[in-house]
This record gives sequence, structure tokens and C-alpha cells, in this order.
Amino acid sequence: MTGVLKVEKAKHVAIIMDGNGRWAQQRGRPRLIGHHAGARRIRDVLESCPRLGVKYLTIFAFSTENWKRTQEEVAGLMSLFRRYILREAKNLKKNGVRVRFIGDRLRLENSLVELMDNLEMMTSDNDLVHLTIAINYGGRDEVARAAQRLAYDVKAGRLAPKEINEETLPKYLDTHVLPDPDLLIRTSGEARISNFLLWQTAYSEYDFVDTLWPDFTSNMFEEALRRYTERTRRFGGVLI
Ligand code: IPE
Ligand code: IPE
Ligand code: MG
Repeated sequence: MTGVLKVEKAKHVAIIMDGNGRWAQQRGRPRLIGHHAGARRIRDVLESCPRLGVKYLTIFAFSTENWKRTQEEVAGLMSLFRRYILREAKNLKKNGVRVRFIGDRLRLENSLVELMDNLEMMTSDNDLVHLTIAINYGGRDEVARAAQRLAYDVKAGRLAPKEINEETLPKYLDTHVLPDPDLLIRTSGEARISNFLLWQTAYSEYDFVDTLWPDFTSNMFEEALRRYTERTRRFGGVLI
């Protein structure tokens, strides 16, 4: 066997939490109701991680493209992120969850960034589960920002152009401390990546589920993890 890995458990799972708007629409409710219902689903999935052997959970909350939505929806989401942090901080700390945020913080309001920084600091000694929340995150934007910092380092003489390779470049990504995701789950039936973790998911297994995110349960999460263990990851190698 060369390069082939018979998978055991997924250590890092990334989730594109999609379908909140449709969930609300189906009930004749405003889209924001769906976002609130969606935010409440995170705890169930997160709390099942230690039992299921998932050490890293990375969730997509707001993309660099989501600014295109109505001002009302964007403002509602930003205030939801604030409320989520305020509501969950104590629990996350108590439950051994280390929280990190990825994405470009420059476009976010100061009051939100302060809460994000604070939650990161508050939970920085935790190591049971590493929860990474992507807010104003875009894979292309992340790579472009990384390239910019890389260029500054080259200009300052800290890095030679010939030292830029597959090992050094990811050190400049927002995810530099995380392993690559083993499994990427997207809810709501859409089968696309929508600019999430472009570099990091090069060899991740993908699982698309039809359930809308506010209906997604820890049982469904467990099922996706079980399906993952039936896959064979080849990484370009061959099974002999
Ligand atoms: C995902 O749900 C959450 C965010 C993008 C913030 P959507 O809001 O995309 O829900 P649908 O896809 O419109 O149903
Ligand atoms: C991706 O979902 C972003 C998040 C889940 C936060 P979208 O609903 O924004 O993606 P598209 O527009 O369907 O590709
Ligand atoms: Mg969507």
C-alpha cells in the first residue's frame, strides 16, 4: 500500500451549516428565525464530539459573500453571533472547548470582534474539543490575505521566495494551527463548497446531506461519521 489510508475515525470535521433560510421559509417565518434555530443546533453536535472521537470541529457561520444579503439579514446575523457568544461562553469554557475564529475580522464591528477575542482568550487553556467558527470567511480571501503577509515577509527578508512551498504557505493561513479536515459535511442538499476551506479540503472526504441545518441532529452527525469510516482515502496512491 502506498499513500493509502484505511480510515478509522475523523479527527477534524468541517460543517457548512446550510439551509436555515429554507427551514424558516417552509414555516412561513422570517429567515432570521431559521438562523436562530440553526445556532441552537450547534451545541448538540459539539457536545457529541468527544464521544465520537472528533477533536476538531470547524463550522461555517458567515461567508465573505454573505454580505450580499439584505441589510436586515446581515445585521440580524451579526447580532446573533454576539448573542451566541454571550450565551455559550460559560458553557464552552466549562466543557473544555477551545474556541477560535477564522476569517477577516477587519469588516466586523468592534463590539463583535471584542467578544470573539475574549472568548478565544477565555478558552485558550482548553483542549478537549477545538471549535473553530468561520465568520466573514472565504477560502479565496484567506489565501489572498496569506499571500499578502507572505509578500511582506519576503520583502523584509524573513523568507526567501524559494522557501515558499506546500509546507510554508499554510503557516500563513487562518487555520495554521489546525490539521486539515478529514470530513466535510454540508447540509441542505447543496453539493458545493461555496468558498469554504479551499486549500485545506484538497483531500477531505465530502458528505452532502439533504437535511436542513436546523433539523440536523447529533444522530445524523454520528451517521455521517460512520459513513466516513467506510471510505478509503487514497491521497493519489494505489491500493495493492
Ligand atoms: C446558512 O443558511 C447560514 C448562512 C449562510 C448564514 P442559509 O441562510 O444559506 O439558508 P438557505 O440556504 O437560504 O436555506
Ligand atoms: C455557505 O452557504 C455559507 C454558510 C453556510 C455560512 P451559502 O448559502 O451562503 O452558499 P450558497 O450561496 O448557497 O453557495
Ligand atoms: Mg444557503
